[in-house]
Amino acid sequence: MLIRPRRNRKSAAIRNMVQETHITAANLIFPLFIIEGTNVKSEVASMPGIYRYSIDNLLREIEQCMELGLQAFDLFPNIDESLKDKYATESTREGSLYLRAIAEVKSRFPEACVVTDVAMDPYSSDGHDGIVENGEILNDETLEVLGRMALAHAQAGADIIAPSDMMDGRIGHIRNVLDNNGFTSVSLMSYTAKYASAFYGPFRDALNSAPKHGDKKTYQMNPANQREALIEAELDMREGADFLMVKPALAYLDIIKLLGDKFELPIAAYNVSGEYAMIKASARNGWLDEQRATMEVLTGIRRAGATAILTYHAKEVLEKKWL
Ligand code: PBG
Repeated sequence: MLIRPRRNRKSAAIRNMVQETHITAANLIFPLFIIEGTNVKSEVASMPGIYRYSIDNLLREIEQCMELGLQAFDLFPNIDESLKDKYATESTREGSLYLRAIAEVKSRFPEACVVTDVAMDPYSSDGHDGIVENGEILNDETLEVLGRMALAHAQAGADIIAPSDMMDGRIGHIRNVLDNNGFTSVSLMSYTAKYASAFYGPFRDALNSAPKHGDKKTYQMNPANQREALIEAELDMREGADFLMVKPALAYLDIIKLLGDKFELPIAAYNVSGEYAMIKASARNGWLDEQRATMEVLTGIRRAGATAILTYHAKEVLEKKWL
């Protein structure tokens, strides 16, 4: 045998030398849940190690994360049921939990990159990402709400706005609203290929944001489709997105690879709540090695072509020095 691939695996030194994929703290975006109150830190039952923080504790958490080298945070609000309505008006109210959180994080940590989520569901009494009329999700009417929400986030200091709603035309609409108001340097990370997935379950527990009726299949993509992701990516690119996101990550590595090969924009992948929960649950049962499984998952997502990974493992992998 002239060629023996095992020679390049014979020692740790050589294995490290030929390693193709690396992850650094700079590639990670840490999603954080916010809740009203003071000194609140309540664990999400289906996401061990992940908490809903009141703003004071959120600032402490971000400080710790930044000391570990994390620089980017994606914020999601848990909104009291009494503040939800059909038009998600709480999302743009001055002084609302979310807008205060953005402003406080940016004023305490100006160098942090704050990513904000644009979608109606945490504020919607219907639990949907758009306005619901007779059981239908209205696209163009929803764009108006999303545009106002994005503008409020930009005014509060958001660095990157991430629309997760899957309405048609929202990237172009939001880009216009931002530009017309002077926010030309606020970035858009589009949830380009967001699938109607079972893996969002724990996130909906965290925010209490599950749809009150029906499902999200008329706007989120069919998990069976790949070509459709190309249509979404083409539109987002033309409408001015700065990042293309694929979500979830694990069952969609082919989509990450496809978009990475066909488009020049950086690809982000969302390693979602259910993917985190799967690892935590099996580790708790002693069914797999948590460190190795976590790193294998994150490495696989990077190897498929994701530049940035949104992951609930972000703090833990740095804290435990797994990177
Ligand atoms: C809502 C939104 C969801 C997630 C991010 N933004 C859930 C959904 O679409 O129902 C899921 C994130 C996760 O599961 O970690 N617009």
